[in-house]
Amino acid sequence: MNYELFSYLCTQIKLNRMKIQIINGPNLNLLGQREPGIYGSESMENCLEALRSRYPQVQIDYYQSNVEGELINKMQETGFAGGYDGIVLNAGAYTHTSVALHDCIRSLKCPVIEVHISNVHQREEFRHKSMISAACKGVICGFGLDSYRLAVEALIGS
Ligand code: DQA
Repeated sequence: MNYELFSYLCTQIKLNRMKIQIINGPNLNLLGQREPGIYGSESMENCLEALRSRYPQVQIDYYQSNVEGELINKMQETGFAGGYDGIVLNAGAYTHTSVALHDCIRSLKCPVIEVHISNVHQREEFRHKSMISAACKGVICGFGLDSYRLAVEALIGS
């Protein structure tokens, strides 16, 4: 077996076992309808469908809540017992305010990638500060819904 084939097979075997949880915070249930000039007109359902068909071997689960405590419950559930390889988190506005999410991320066993659809650094000053970045493995922002794909690929490649 040549090296290329061997490494391709290893990647496929690794992907087959992977589980990734995508979590969206407040107002992100309105994607596609909410401020399309900033967040685009594509829905999260379309984005998930595209991701799942791009990576059929990877289990990609999705959760959204407008409630801070519910996000924390889901993160704990995923990050401790769920056997997940990572979390892709768009905490929405809680990014800029939530010490509770910061503490939660620090306590988890699996890596968390912070994601934003918009480039928060080109927007209002209150969006420049993230309470969660320091607790996350990495941050991806400004690529529209493609930010989620880039985050999933960061987890797959790590
Ligand atoms: C956002 C940016 C946040 O500042 C904002 O509160 C959101 C969405 C983004 O994906 O660009 O709700 O996280």
